[in-house]
Amino acid sequence: MSKTISSGEDGLSTMSILKKQEQFLWPSHILYYRDPLPLDHGKGSYVTAVDGTEYLDYFGGILTTSVGHNHPRIIEKVTAQIGKIIHCSTLYPHENHVQLAEKIAEIAPGRLEKSYFTNSGTEADELAVMAARGYTGNFDILALRHGYSGNSAMGKTLTAQSAWRLATNIVPGIKHAINPYCYRCPFKMSFPSCDLACAQDVEEVIKTTTCGRVAGMLVEPIQGVGGFVTPPPGYFSMVAEIVRHYGGVMIADEVQTGFGRTGNRWFGIEHWEVEPEIMTMAKGIANGFPMGNTITTPEIADSLVGKGHFICTFGGNPVSTMASIATIEVMTEECPPSVVAEKGELLRKALERMAENSPIIGEVRGMGLMQGIEIVTDKTSKTPAPELVVEIFEATKAKGLLIGKGGMFNNVIRLTPPLNTTETELDTAIAILNEVFTQLQ
Ligand SMILES: Cc1ncc(COP(=O)(O)O)c(C=O)c1O
Repeated sequence: MSKTISSGEDGLSTMSILKKQEQFLWPSHILYYRDPLPLDHGKGSYVTAVDGTEYLDYFGGILTTSVGHNHPRIIEKVTAQIGKIIHCSTLYPHENHVQLAEKIAEIAPGRLEKSYFTNSGTEADELAVMAARGYTGNFDILALRHGYSGNSAMGKTLTAQSAWRLATNIVPGIKHAINPYCYRCPFKMSFPSCDLACAQDVEEVIKTTTCGRVAGMLVEPIQGVGGFVTPPPGYFSMVAEIVRHYGGVMIADEVQTGFGRTGNRWFGIEHWEVEPEIMTMAKGIANGFPMGNTITTPEIADSLVGKGHFICTFGGNPVSTMASIATIEVMTEECPPSVVAEKGELLRKALERMAENSPIIGEVRGMGLMQGIEIVTDKTSKTPAPELVVEIFEATKAKGLLIGKGGMFNNVIRLTPPLNTTETELDTAIAILNEVFTQLQ
């Protein structure tokens, strides 16, 4: 049962917040749960709602509070920074800006060394596309079906789920390849006998839908909004070879998979042993402070000089960069990728045991502390069951656990605990999920 404790704050009631939400905010804001849940405060892996109910937060503001809410070390450093200077724009070099860039260059794979900080994943992806085009001189960009890349015109065009696109917002030059969704393989094949038909198809897409030369391909190592679709071994190396053969660069969108989330590596693409020429990151980079980053090689960064200015007023903001420096320090000390892998293994094993006993769990997939559960009406037909996901949402909330969802059919539960979650918290979440899946049999 969820605990009820007093929030101890005088503020708007749940009802008033919801009323004002309806009156003053666009209804396009998606709210989780039948009774939406205004939050009041957070500490570590827990959040407390305005009505005083405490929840274990295993979606972390969409994989963003990577080391838990209000980590004391981050608060201390950010508060000190606020006392010094909040904003200076990128027209002036700042210590935090360069220190963070150096820190990220140290953990980024291969020759990725030069950063450009922005405010969001959308902007990071925009900049990556611009850099790929500027460097190669080619225009066409490939992306993956079921991918999600953001909220701008370019972001929506790179995105390949109709529900997340606006017809009026589509830009030219983006083509989508079939995604490596083995559970629902579009070729009706199985790995490994498929010989990675989906990877091979990238060449067909280039030959048939582009002018034959591409600027690059943007991929999420594990598709986030797409429902934690996890490519088989060998997929990205084959894709990278094809893309490079046709003049393009690989762009790894690490907005969800970055910063140790997938365990054992700092960035998701490293599991496939591909060194991208460009990588984008956001969400968990600064534990909730708005930030995006596009990191690339010196040659690509240098190639853009003299081709036109670009600027991001809030990019490299001293407060956000300090938050990010502190976040990476906490990750390194409390939950480096090896620790994330161990905790991810505990969670994964428990979910697999649940899957054995539950008729509605079609597949468990993901890596590290990024685990997805695809919910179906039954294992034979594999019919997506988004209505059951709604039930699971309500039931887990009633027991004090917040989770996420996604997938092309809105039928994938997404579990992304803070990277420094404790084993006790993991046990709590596993017990709640177990109870709920047992109820739903
Ligand atoms: C993989 C990926 N790329 C880009 C974005 C866009 O990030 P933002 O919402 O910070 O603009 C998202 C957001 O969910 C994402 O999941």
